[in-house]
Amino acid sequence: MTDQPSSVLVVGATGSIGRRVVAAALLHGLDVRALVRDPARAERVLPGADLVWGDLEETTGLATAVRGVDAIVFTHGGNGSPDQARRIDYGGVANVLAALDGRTPRVALMTSIGVSRRGAYSGSTGQLLDWKRRSERLVRASGAPYTIVRPGWFDNVGPRDERLVLEQTDTGNGGIGRDQLAAVLVRSLLTDSAVDKTFELFAEPGAAPADWEELFAPLTPDGGGELNAAGDPDSLPPLEEEPDAVREDITRLTKR
Ligand SMILES: NC(=O)c1ccc[n+]([C@@H]2O[C@H](COP(=O)([O-])OP(=O)(O)OC[C@H]3O[C@@H](n4cnc5c(N)ncnc54)[C@H](OP(=O)(O)O)[C@@H]3O)[C@@H](O)[C@H]2O)c1
Repeated sequence: MTDQPSSVLVVGATGSIGRRVVAAALLHGLDVRALVRDPARAERVLPGADLVWGDLEETTGLATAVRGVDAIVFTHGGNGSPDQARRIDYGGVANVLAALDGRTPRVALMTSIGVSRRGAYSGSTGQLLDWKRRSERLVRASGAPYTIVRPGWFDNVGPRDERLVLEQTDTGNGGIGRDQLAAVLVRSLLTDSAVDKTFELFAEPGAAPADWEELFAPLTPDGGGELNAAGDPDSLPPLEEEPDAVREDITRLTKR
């Protein structure tokens, strides 16, 4: 049994998923700290959370934001451009992990379906997915107990789609409700069988999960020390083929 977190930092807390994560975490009795860039605006949308100022592109503030928390949920994202994908989607994870200074709280990282389908998406989408895949690698290297959720299309679900489908092939396609996704991210922090697992997440017609340990248990854990997820194709680039800055981040953040 891993220690149950009692506090969580939500990165991307004002976003469409992050604000639902804040609400779900509060419902579970967690102390919730929200990383925000504009506290006055955030106060209106995040009742019940402690607000801490921070910008993912600036390291100032991030050490204070992570201090003492038992868990971190990442749901942040830039505007989809390759430059923001590098600086925010990827760089934000790198900067927050660096701010932990070797501490290893429980982590839940939201990325996307398609991150390991290299070559399937061209242009800016392909680059965005590449940076998200690289952010996953940082989390795996960090030594923190983690769950990585690769959601399908937000809210592309019908009224009876309450059954959660967790896959590890990254070949599927489908939707997931924003509330369902937020619930899975928070439950993953509180469920032992979710540790060190990466999966795609969809919803289908059927019943909502009754037992969260049972939901995550059949999944294959990622191999200890592996940068890729269980089930990822062999076609992903080895570390030697990644940009120099990414290789340096992996080296710097790998828990020894
Ligand atoms: N749409 C889909 O169907 C789908 C499917 C799979 C994955 N995704 C991924 O989901 C993500 C979008 O999630 P969402 O809808 O929750 O996003 P969102 O509503 O756009 O929220 C993004 C969050 O990131 C924060 N953020 C951005 N830059 C920041 C910075 N420099 N420092 C601190 N915080 C920063 C924003 O803060 P501010 O409020 O201060 O701007 C906001 O809280 C995207 O990355 C997308 O690729 C989407």
